[in-house]
Amino acid sequence: MTTSETGTPRADVDLVAFHATDKVYGNGFRALAPIDLGIRRGEITVLVGPSGCGKTTLLRMAAGLTEPTSGTMTRDTDRMSYVFQDPTLLAWRSVQANVEVIAKLQKVPRAERRRRAEQAITMVGLDGFQKSFPRELSGGMKMRASLARSVTSDPELLLMDEPFAALDEFTREKMGAELLRLWREKRFSVLFITHSIYEACTLGHQIAIMNTGPGHIVEVVKSPSPPSLDPTFERDERALRALQEQISITLGSFRE
Ligand SMILES: Nc1ncnc2c1ncn2[C@@H]1O[C@H](COP(=O)(O)OP(=O)(O)OP(=O)(O)O)[C@@H](O)[C@H]1O
Ligand SMILES: [Mg+2]
Repeated sequence: MTTSETGTPRADVDLVAFHATDKVYGNGFRALAPIDLGIRRGEITVLVGPSGCGKTTLLRMAAGLTEPTSGTMTRDTDRMSYVFQDPTLLAWRSVQANVEVIAKLQKVPRAERRRRAEQAITMVGLDGFQKSFPRELSGGMKMRASLARSVTSDPELLLMDEPFAALDEFTREKMGAELLRLWREKRFSVLFITHSIYEACTLGHQIAIMNTGPGHIVEVVKSPSPPSLDPTFERDERALRALQEQISITLGSFRE
């Protein structure tokens, strides 16, 4: 299931590439050993691994929010958008205004912003809630609005740090399907962090398994049945279950 070239940076297919990128924080703490990883254009790359293995550090480096200590991070776009665990909606603004806010900051003209926001709101199933305020929405609906806001800025790269972690399992599965729908439509690249092995296997084209001590990538697994741009494509559920099992065994071995 694993091939030697999975995850290794390749200029022809990468939107983001890490070359021997490491991180020592200001207090001297080594969070990441040198990392080599390519985030493929138009694909979903998932990071899994125990708490403290440096997933958020790596994502922040991809965003340019944290500088590598040595090595390089190259990114072929500035059109990025983040989705964090907390939907961070503005309480005093309607769903419509919240969804438009990043595009507005980016000075996307009003009519275009409107059009994109309307499309995104429909795509995440929030039609009819445009005028509602965040306090009137459920947790899942808030996260939907957050997702709609991210795609309204028309990103090439979506950086998602445990975006669905606070949701119940049912809503979480629906959000995963929602993300894949948006991905089919927009074809952005995604760097996605999760603690859910199921989510990793459902969403990932490749899954980087990380461990602590200092943070490093143990293995990058290529999905045997990745998400397809064709919505009628039937995923190989057996192969995906086997992949879940394999990743779960690898992660379990870290605790021994
Ligand atoms: N600003 C900082 N200064 C010093 N150490 C930091 C800083 N930020 C993170 N760390 C440390 O670096 C390590 C990696 O942190 P990071 O947040 O990247 O882990 P993570 O894999 O995202 O964990 P989790 O799954 O709990 O979110 C941790 O040991 C953390 O304590
Ligand atoms: Mg984290």
